[in-house]
Amino acid sequence: MTFQQTTGQVFVSLPQKLTNVQVPPIKIQGIKTKLVSFIAANIMWDGVGTYHEPFMGSGVVGFNLAPQRAIFSDTNPHLIRFYQSLYDGKITAPMVREYLETEAPKLADTPDGRESYYYEVRDRFNKEHSPLDFLFLQRSNFNGMIRFNSSGGYNVPFGRKPNRFAPALITKITNQVRWLGELFQARPDWTFANQSFEDAYQDVEAHDFVYLDPPYIGRHDGYFDSWSEEKADLLAEITQKNPSGYALSMWHSNRHRTNGHLDLWAHGVVHTTDHFYHVGAKELNRSAVIEALVVSPKNTVDPVTTAGGSPRVLLTL
Ligand SMILES: C[S@@+](CC[C@H](N)C(=O)[O-])C[C@H]1O[C@@H](n2cnc3c(N)ncnc32)[C@H](O)[C@@H]1O
Repeated sequence: MTFQQTTGQVFVSLPQKLTNVQVPPIKIQGIKTKLVSFIAANIMWDGVGTYHEPFMGSGVVGFNLAPQRAIFSDTNPHLIRFYQSLYDGKITAPMVREYLETEAPKLADTPDGRESYYYEVRDRFNKEHSPLDFLFLQRSNFNGMIRFNSSGGYNVPFGRKPNRFAPALITKITNQVRWLGELFQARPDWTFANQSFEDAYQDVEAHDFVYLDPPYIGRHDGYFDSWSEEKADLLAEITQKNPSGYALSMWHSNRHRTNGHLDLWAHGVVHTTDHFYHVGAKELNRSAVIEALVVSPKNTVDPVTTAGGSPRVLLTL
């Protein structure tokens, strides 16, 4: 991690060579754990302004970059409530261990051998929205999906696996919560907000940096809000008009086609990964995908090509 000393304050700057990417306790489809090192290596930013992550999801990118000042946001209120509770110290590692150790046997002891207690917790969560129940569901559901029905009810089914909360998994989740608890204590200038990217952009200033990871267009991922061509266009417009730096993750191409939405980002510089396998994305999962990071020209470490141009240099993960 690179540090820069200015007027007595320590700033975390980019690029960074991240060799030990940490995984947060909440899982989500499209999580960028495997791309964090690639992202960290391809952005140039002095870290003096505020880092914004308006589509935070699991938070794995920003939590690993660990900037000094940050605003993390998402339209999914449950993600924000979970991380806000952790940030405020209302959820701690010992509390998570105790909760999981109490709940895990109930899951194992239900007459149908597991399922019904999961659905009991799901019903309870849909009434009470407890962050601990959210964690429980995200770690025992089908594939770590986050999905809601049209009235906002969490509707992911149980992920059938024997011994869902084995002691080793409880320890792993507790350690993930402990890591974040310690990180959050060392970052008093972080904010979590339940808001749309349009609202998030109200606070973005010229010396700031914004990392963007919107949902894929045209797929019904079931995140809290639906994503559309119109929103994708608006995001590209707002971002490229703003004087701040930005980096946007999106898929670049697979064996069959190139992502046409890259054309919306004509002002950016495209960095690409080598072939990469996603977990959970349907069409993209069937064949290897090249991932793109579109970076504002003033923040690129290595100008490769502008969107839609060629040739492209493949950067191996
Ligand atoms: C691809 S996921 C982000 C994954 C994240 N980078 C990670 O590694 O975990 C997209 C996120 O955008 C959120 N989202 C969807 N529509 C949004 C909107 N209009 N404004 C802000 N967030 C939105 C979803 O709730 C979801 O958490």
